[in-house]
Amino acid sequence: MADTRIVVTDYIEDNLDWEVEEMKKRGVAFEHAQLKLAPQDELVQFIGDAEVVIVNMAPMPESVISQLPGTRLIIRHGIGYDNVDTAACTAQGIRLANIPDYCAQEVAEQAVALLLTCARRLFESRRILEESSASGIWDFSTLGDIHRISDQVLGIVGCGRIGSRVYRMTENLFGERMVCDPYMDDRRIAALGLDTQHSLEDLLQAADYVTIHTPLNDQTRYMIDQPQLRMMKPSAFLVNTARGAIVKTEALTKALKEGWIAGAGIDVYETEPPPADLELFDLPTATLSSHLGWCSVESGWDIRHKIMQDVDNYLAGLPPRFTVNTDVEAKLGGKAYRDM
Ligand SMILES: NC(=O)c1ccc[n+]([C@@H]2O[C@H](COP(=O)([O-])OP(=O)(O)OC[C@H]3O[C@@H](n4cnc5c(N)ncnc54)[C@H](O)[C@@H]3O)[C@@H](O)[C@H]2O)c1
Repeated sequence: MADTRIVVTDYIEDNLDWEVEEMKKRGVAFEHAQLKLAPQDELVQFIGDAEVVIVNMAPMPESVISQLPGTRLIIRHGIGYDNVDTAACTAQGIRLANIPDYCAQEVAEQAVALLLTCARRLFESRRILEESSASGIWDFSTLGDIHRISDQVLGIVGCGRIGSRVYRMTENLFGERMVCDPYMDDRRIAALGLDTQHSLEDLLQAADYVTIHTPLNDQTRYMIDQPQLRMMKPSAFLVNTARGAIVKTEALTKALKEGWIAGAGIDVYETEPPPADLELFDLPTATLSSHLGWCSVESGWDIRHKIMQDVDNYLAGLPPRFTVNTDVEAKLGGKAYRDM
């Protein structure tokens, strides 16, 4: 394996000492860099003849990928892969892997945390505490309604890895749970014991809390816009931990300002990080977190181990755990990596 070179183009960990040791055990040549913002030429030069490229945020457009004749596998450190040109990978016979299964539990926990924060109006409560402390007298006159959560209806839109965890976690929290996921497979429906599926419209009209867990694609972009927010109850809350552009920010801002809904819990934004003048910052009913749904010490280690499994698969001539560009298989014609 000594001739196999594996590189990391950029990383978010404090250091890659663990990876250095693991790669040593496998007898491969390993190098890492921080080239997220580097010019393309520098990136191409660093990758050179590497067979496996592990990339976090560094852009990998066609103009980079086409200059990597020795590369067989690109592993995206994360779930999304919009910084890597998938079609260019296929054209070049490169498998693109992602790690879609590393932080589902954390994101589900983030969604439930936002749901509870909205329900108990914790951010408003903090403001009231500060104002009352300053004036020396409790003043709850600006507090919005708080409802008993166990009497409320939760609507889950998208019930895949994350949404189904939210479904399970909230069994003893909410009075009723509704699911909208027209593409859910039968196995998951049976595993969750779901007997009814709802349309988005029915769910939006009936739920006291709506939590979004779909992917962002052509169908779901702005799935929640003015008409959908208008369908929701004025007492309802919207939580989005999926992708910013599933909810139109402008419409959400208007809905909060004009009281079409009671509040929102948001982890993801249309542009990230959002601009400093984002109006949501000024709205007390917007509970905002900083796209950290994925984050925990444990998920940080999970992804490192899962990437190492993909490296091991590569060294054994096997495909990665999850291939993004499955159409590359036809091009590879069943050839194992190392025969190419
Ligand atoms: N906040 C974070 O840090 C963070 C971290 C990881 C993932 N995410 C996001 O969470 C979301 C869900 O991830 P996942 O791993 O559960 O994905 P998944 O693919 O396992 O599940 C998505 C589900 O949405 C359903 N779906 C697709 N289109 C739909 C539609 N139009 N209406 C209703 N349902 C629809 C699919 O059938 C599937 O069951 C993604 O947008 C992902 O990018 C966020």
